[in-house]
Amino acid sequence: MNYSNILLEKQEPVALIRLNRPKVHNALNNALMSELSECLAALDADDTVRAIVITGNEKAFAAGADIAEMRSLDFSQAYREEFITANWEQVTRCRTPVIAAVAGVALGGGCELAMMCDLLIAAESARFGQPEVKLGILPGAGGSQRLTRAVGKAKAMDLCLTGRMMGAEEAERCGLVSRVVADEQLVEEALAVAREIAGYSAMATMINKEAVNQAFETTLQAGIDYERRLLWASFTTEDRQEGMGAFLEKRAPAWKHR
Ligand code: CAA
Repeated sequence: MNYSNILLEKQEPVALIRLNRPKVHNALNNALMSELSECLAALDADDTVRAIVITGNEKAFAAGADIAEMRSLDFSQAYREEFITANWEQVTRCRTPVIAAVAGVALGGGCELAMMCDLLIAAESARFGQPEVKLGILPGAGGSQRLTRAVGKAKAMDLCLTGRMMGAEEAERCGLVSRVVADEQLVEEALAVAREIAGYSAMATMINKEAVNQAFETTLQAGIDYERRLLWASFTTEDRQEGMGAFLEKRAPAWKHR
């Protein structure tokens, strides 16, 4: 598959996707989001790919939905074409772990895309924001919900109502990102994390991801019940026998489900 708005590099067992519209700070137009969606679906179905990194360039992860393209959009068209819903949410459907590696701006839909990923690693230059209020709209790719769950009401209101940007240090402090690294190490660090994840049993990474995601969908007790059933189910797998056996026999595990 040939893409013109993203660059795909497969380095088995991981894949790196670079958003690639540098002239417009990787503004996320329909063509880019359709390519990204298709690419993620293909990678998710590819057993040789065990973790995925999405990044931008040194100035921008993405400056949001493409404002030039949105300018003429009316309700009727947005409704008929399911604007956002049609091709923005594939990343949330991936069972393969997805890491966002953010340098420069991640604004509006760019911040929302990064928040849809499982893990968010920021370069020191990263700046996050939901500046839609300045355009007379609000976040439309889950930002008002995911940002609030990630950082709490106080920061989410601050960012959404003022449209200000938040730097990497503040983003780490309030729990939006898991690590901050030097700009020149961003992609290597993200790929190293991806390779570390890819080194575990695919079954184990999938059930861990599924359980953490449940925390956003259910009550505490229902989430704990869900976790416990996944744990009990995991006892039936070859990989948990291998993992525990390898630990006790002081050897490296040879996973069946890679
Ligand atoms: N859509 C379309 N074009 C964009 C864009 C966007 N989101 N962001 C930047 N560009 C374009 C600019 O129009 C400019 O194009 P020209 O060279 O043709 O003039 C080019 O990218 C370079 O941008 P700037 O000259 O503005 O660069 P800068 O370094 O001065 O500023 C910036 C960078 C802070 C990212 C600034 O461009 C900016 O504020 N961009 C808009 C951010 C924004 O409002 N994002 C939210 C979009 S709405 C949304 O995402 C809705 C949703 O939830 C899905």
